[in-house]
Amino acid sequence: MSQTETQTPLRTHFAGFDLYELAERFGTPTYVYDATTIRQRIDELRAFDVIRYAQKACSNIAIVALARQAGALVDAVSAGEIVRALAAGYTPQGSPPPIVYTADIFDRDALRLVLQHDIRVNCGSPDMIDQYGEQHPEGEITLRINPGFGHGHSRKTNTGGEQSKHGIWHEQLEECLRQADQYGLRVTGLHLHIGSGTDFEHLAQVCSAMERLALRAGPQIHSISAGGGLPVPYRPGEERIDLQAYFELWDATRQRLQEAFGHPVELEIEPGRYLVAESGVLLAEIRAVKRMGANTFYLVDAGFNNLARPILYGAYHPMSIVPRPGSAADRPLQEVVVGGPLCESGDIFTQEEGGFVARRALPQARVGDLLCIECAGAYGFVMSSNYNSKPLAAEVLLDGGTAHLIRRRQTLEELMTGEAIPPHLQGGSAP
Ligand code: LLP
Repeated sequence: MSQTETQTPLRTHFAGFDLYELAERFGTPTYVYDATTIRQRIDELRAFDVIRYAQKACSNIAIVALARQAGALVDAVSAGEIVRALAAGYTPQGSPPPIVYTADIFDRDALRLVLQHDIRVNCGSPDMIDQYGEQHPEGEITLRINPGFGHGHSRKTNTGGEQSKHGIWHEQLEECLRQADQYGLRVTGLHLHIGSGTDFEHLAQVCSAMERLALRAGPQIHSISAGGGLPVPYRPGEERIDLQAYFELWDATRQRLQEAFGHPVELEIEPGRYLVAESGVLLAEIRAVKRMGANTFYLVDAGFNNLARPILYGAYHPMSIVPRPGSAADRPLQEVVVGGPLCESGDIFTQEEGGFVARRALPQARVGDLLCIECAGAYGFVMSSNYNSKPLAAEVLLDGGTAHLIRRRQTLEELMTGEAIPPHLQGGSAP
């Protein structure tokens, strides 16, 4: 297993591009993604029959289209993600199904779109079976099962066990199979996803849970999905997951099921983070450097409105400073706190779970230098908001030597799109 390279906290380039030039051209804050990394990660998982990209990790249609061209199929968890998958060029039908809707509920838009395009549904609740079966009897579905245990990098990303709202409780499998049968629905696959950013040991437990469940369901099962959850190294020194060993565990499970059923069983994996996390950086400009007693703060023009993982999970992201061209090259390290522009004290990128402010050794920096927040391609832009009326950042894809703008920065005017002042509040003067 290889270790992550020790990150040097001073950098000028990313994927061969000059970061300062990118910032000048596209402004800040901007997410920058490297297409090569995404293709490489997809290639690493080719042993699985189906790689289904969990687009929730980074759903810009250019990234979804890239995944499609690289041979990945796609997961959608909402009506919006179905629309994105279609816009990115996926066709609704095919074998295996190009788009699968996986969720614990259908909202009305999602049910409408699933029926309209005849998109495969992976049901995460008994109610979904009823709602789908009533509208689409004789169809084909898969079931997402909660195996009774789960694990994630944070309690908030654990999706198994009694505390989790996800999936169909494992004890209800037979009941749900009977329920599907009442509508003539064929249950042809099972899906397990116990959490995000978990470890090998926990992921391995999923195989045996899958085997037991699939044997209970019987030979109607033609596909099994290992879900997502593959971790990536965020901190220096963290190891990469052993994909070969992971595949072998799942492959062995699949083979035993094939023997038991006497027909082929397709093996799917559904990664989000693994495909895109390391491909992306968030580029921000340092706008203030100030001292608070013993602490030095670097305040940048990106906040938790752009990258929510630190405030939500105490997530660690590697960071580096991009010196303004022509500025002093000698940048001794100092322990600093890095924060954003929001009027909220939790707007700190260097924090630990529980909100404890931590310091990070970064090169001395001044206003006008850039901060590069790394490993930010997954659950970065997609979790952003307009809090404090901050426009959404731009997104740029580096591919084939060209920097493509794949989302222009939201304008200040667009912040008010859809809002309206009722007539009785128009006109008049301030009190
Ligand atoms: N499949 C299902 C059914 C999922 O719920 C998820 C993630 C995935 C696949 C993809 O998981 P991944 O391979 O990316 O671990 N916002 C959190 C992560 C939440 C993940 C939600 N579900 C974070 O920033 O860490």
